[in-house]
Amino acid sequence: MCGICACIGNLNAVKYVLDGLKILEYRGYDSAGISYIENKELKTIKSVGEICNLEKKVKGIFSNVAIGHTRWATHGSVTEDNAHPHLSFNKGIAIVHNGIVENYKDLKDKLNNVKWHSQTDTEVFVNLVAEKEGDLLEKLINASKEISGSFAVALLDKDGNIVFGKRESPLYIAHINNGVMAVSDTYVLCDLAEDFYTLNDNEFAKINGNGIFFYDKNGKKIIKNKEKMQNFNKNNEIFEKTHMKSEILETKKVLIETFKNYKNELLFSSIKLPKKFEEIELIACGTAYHSALQGAEYFKKIGIPSHAYIASEFRYGNEILNKNALYIFVSQSGETADTIACAKMLKEKNMTCLALTNTPNSYLNKICENVLPTFAGKEIAVASTKAYSCQVFVLYLFSLYLSGKFKESEKEILDFLKNFPLLDINNGLVDKISNFEKIFFIGRGQDYITALEGSLKLKEITYINSFAIASGELKHGTLALIDKKSIVIAICTEEKIKEKLFSNIEEVKAREGSVLLISNFPSSFESLILPTFPTALMPIISIIPLQFLALHMCEKLGYNPDKPKNLAKSVTVE
Ligand code: AGP
Repeated sequence: MCGICACIGNLNAVKYVLDGLKILEYRGYDSAGISYIENKELKTIKSVGEICNLEKKVKGIFSNVAIGHTRWATHGSVTEDNAHPHLSFNKGIAIVHNGIVENYKDLKDKLNNVKWHSQTDTEVFVNLVAEKEGDLLEKLINASKEISGSFAVALLDKDGNIVFGKRESPLYIAHINNGVMAVSDTYVLCDLAEDFYTLNDNEFAKINGNGIFFYDKNGKKIIKNKEKMQNFNKNNEIFEKTHMKSEILETKKVLIETFKNYKNELLFSSIKLPKKFEEIELIACGTAYHSALQGAEYFKKIGIPSHAYIASEFRYGNEILNKNALYIFVSQSGETADTIACAKMLKEKNMTCLALTNTPNSYLNKICENVLPTFAGKEIAVASTKAYSCQVFVLYLFSLYLSGKFKESEKEILDFLKNFPLLDINNGLVDKISNFEKIFFIGRGQDYITALEGSLKLKEITYINSFAIASGELKHGTLALIDKKSIVIAICTEEKIKEKLFSNIEEVKAREGSVLLISNFPSSFESLILPTFPTALMPIISIIPLQFLALHMCEKLGYNPDKPKNLAKSVTVE
């Protein structure tokens, strides 16, 4: 969350930073700001809301050095005062920060002479830096020793020096044509640089006209290796009014692309499994956690014990680790703080780790010795859609590979891909569902997982309170909520639980609740009929109408599905 960008060179750094912030806007869009040097003065411009508001204010400004920020609010409400960059008490240093200073209250108490202009932890950071001795880099290194928490920071002083520091939050630096740029995400650098440097935890850097210089936590110069820029496959070819719509519509294409890359099994055969391979544990957040749940079902079906965990729970829980387990971290961005923290923790304990991500160059990929990419192309809308489908698909393919059934399933998969149905949900149904006060999603087994994901999509972009429940659990409490103001969206794609689910639907109807069934089985209930494919592949089909449902309800309410309030695409803080 929060994106930072800095640039120096023989170019208009303000423009480069602004363009960078536009790409980073998915990390937060509460406010944005830029600091730059003009006539030997350190100047700062900020605005609340999306980057386009800042763009109007910085139009026509030229400076060859600038730092910028797009904010997802953590400490302090969404105001211009709380927007970054923040200035030191003497107005000599500006800072942009991604992360959280956990001990900011204690530090604030110590800095008792400072007049505060914001409620942020970041203003404390820059003032701590300003009171240290030495040049800007020394000041930053010394200040960071007193900071607990996470940070990726860029600081600019009135002499035009730019320095960086990093702990947990991501930061990448690259030479671009006529200059140097540092950013929170390599997305920004894709079209500008062929290689880049990753700043590791507790490393620092300074950039100037002569190049990029790296330092360890004691201020000792270090040499770092460049990494080759890997680009996204170009799958973003559908241009609808919103990214979310384009991304749902791209699902078939990206599934085909993903299969193309896995067809020869090379990506699977290069995985280093534990010597005595016993189980698979999956760890993820949000939508990626739902695909992890589907993955665990696939692995159990082939006889491998498997569980999925929410990363923020796993990291502070009491899970018993197994040296013979493969730990899979599922993440679209590969930058999610809780998922990364778990991967680091398990790597330190010498567990076998695998990153299943959609983002080349991501930090998670670097931590894990094994990587399984999804080939969904850039996913920009905050609500994950096509990336989810690809995650589930790759986990399924991996289960086929592990069971030795990959080759024999090829024909079936090609048929699935060829006939993949992008099932939309019609306006009549959308209008009908919109009229209910309470919306529930139910299912059993793999369909319960789809219900969880469908409900998350709806909440995320429509702000309507809904929740998903395993249908067998209804009568253990939730049935008390069912009345004529309720609609239950039931998903059913597994023959073995069909009759059980249908009985649960009858229980809902008996309480005057309405029902929409999404299923490939005929019934007397109002239904959206799905075509039949192998059961294990049905979750990739049944999620599509639920994604469309959330999208259409969002459009009906007049919200922007790409930038839901309070959320950001990459969750880089705990
Ligand atoms: C998806 O719609 C959500 N925006 C969110 O739950 C997301 O899946 C989660 O934050 C994990 O992100 P990741 O896949 O990039 O790790």
